[in-house]
Amino acid sequence: MYEKEIEEAKEHFGKLVEEQLKRVEKLKEADDWIDYTKLKPIIIGIVGGDGIGPYISKEAKRILEFLLKEEIENGKVEIRTIEGLTIENRAKVMKAIPDDVLEEIKKCHVILKGPTTTPKKGDPWPNIESANVAMRRELDLFANVRPVKVPSEGIDWVFFRENTEGAYMLGGKGMDVTDDLAIDFKVITSPGAERIIRLAFDYARKTGMNKVTVVTKANVVKKTDGKFLSMAEEVAKDYPDVEWDDWFVDIMTAKLIDPARRSQFKVGVLPNLYGDIITDEAAQIQGGVGTAGSANIGKRYAMFEAIHGSAPRMVKEGRAKYADPTSIIKATSMLLNHIGFVDRAKKLDMALDICSQYEKKVVITGRDDGATGAEFADYVMETIQDENLEERWQGYQ
Ligand code: IPM
Ligand code: MG
Repeated sequence: MYEKEIEEAKEHFGKLVEEQLKRVEKLKEADDWIDYTKLKPIIIGIVGGDGIGPYISKEAKRILEFLLKEEIENGKVEIRTIEGLTIENRAKVMKAIPDDVLEEIKKCHVILKGPTTTPKKGDPWPNIESANVAMRRELDLFANVRPVKVPSEGIDWVFFRENTEGAYMLGGKGMDVTDDLAIDFKVITSPGAERIIRLAFDYARKTGMNKVTVVTKANVVKKTDGKFLSMAEEVAKDYPDVEWDDWFVDIMTAKLIDPARRSQFKVGVLPNLYGDIITDEAAQIQGGVGTAGSANIGKRYAMFEAIHGSAPRMVKEGRAKYADPTSIIKATSMLLNHIGFVDRAKKLDMALDICSQYEKKVVITGRDDGATGAEFADYVMETIQDENLEERWQGYQ
């Protein structure tokens, strides 16, 4: 019975193993990190995405142009808008990222990305792979860095979520062996685990946070999570000055909402799916997923994104111009920081804190009883220009 199905499954699995073995070999070749100081121009691509994406990214672009006016004029920075990463186009060519769009993206060095629709079974769209996941894989953006801060509670966390392996790597390549049997695959490789764990330890050392928490479910998921944990044990030997511990993801999820314990966490490093879940929980503790930024970092490319959805209903109801650009502006400051404009990123962060959390002179509600995204962006730019910006911000700390 089922001989044909078993043969097909073996063949499918064989191909996946072959692909992954090739990938491991490539990973071992380890390229050098790109050096932005040596680039002229640094090319920043703005990829609007779907739904409200193009509306909010337009505001982020205006802020970038404002902050980098001099560098754009003297040719150090070039900003490009990349059209076409919409669900309509993606569905038309049945690809997570259409080829021509990917080609344009690859000509840039860093990307600022608006939200993109991720279809699931039963949606009106074909069930194609998430554009986020595809972009992370295509550009090898292996580190998803997500900071969360609540100073009044002593919370200062930075999560390093592995971004190219785990349950996501072959997310689109599982199989329905029969109508009754579905199988997905989870992949962890030694070089893939090592590079993200090393980045987390480096960060802990460099920032003086000096504490890394490794999160797995290695007691149950023995092979893949087991490998992640043993890589952590290996890497930790190179960082005797950095304290580290390991937690299982279930109890970690509980401890993050324990006010007595949670401030002990500093830098976290997690396989992909656990990182996805834990960082949403953490962002909620900070005030919601819309308040958090997300940096996707690789050695050659980096992509910074708004982490909320594309809200197609707002567009349908004619409310797109009232969409809140806070999350993509937060991503903009992470981008500036990453490519070396640290002072300007700091100014933007302070202005954003003042405008969205403290002073709130322009309030966005998502409807016409609130401000538009453009009005909010103007408010942020006005605030940046205040000579007493730092004092004004300090006053709220
Ligand atoms: C995120 C998102 C994505 C993910 C979705 C949209 C595919 O939840 O960036 O965390 O699961 O990685
Ligand atoms: Mg998520």
